Amino acid sequence: MKEFFEWRNEWSTGIEIIDRQHRQLAVMLNKIHGLYLNNGGQIDSGQRSNQLHKQLKIFYEKVREHFNDEEDLMLKANYPGYTEHVRDHLMLLAELKHYIRHIDEELDNINIGTMNSLKTWFIAHIIGSDKEFADFLQVHSQD
Ligand SMILES: [Fe+2]
Repeated sequence: MKEFFEWRNEWSTGIEIIDRQHRQLAVMLNKIHGLYLNNGGQIDSGQRSNQLHKQLKIFYEKVREHFNDEEDLMLKANYPGYTEHVRDHLMLLAELKHYIRHIDEELDNINIGTMNSLKTWFIAHIIGSDKEFADFLQVHSQD
């Protein structure tokens, strides 16, 4: 079966720790999606709600850790886009909280729209701001 979130090599930034964390987050998104669909009703709805809620919280925490690691790297590299990127991270975290609340609320009335928004949110983060930083690092690590 096709995975909900299929990793594409073109999303790699070339920064090992960032790429590893992005892939871990992608795996978590697929797990969340699997719980969300609960195909064939493998687990009862109470258990599903609990597990989903737990996984979403873990996902949020992992995203926060990931953002912190990125910000550390940016500071060390004297990245001129640091302040802007930190602002983006705060906005992204607020958005993520919003999606998580929606998913929690929609549990009994499955709506794939929010799950898809979560996926788009994640891709936009990688392709947009992280790639910019990776380009900067690549140029400046050759100095
Ligand atoms: Fe990232």
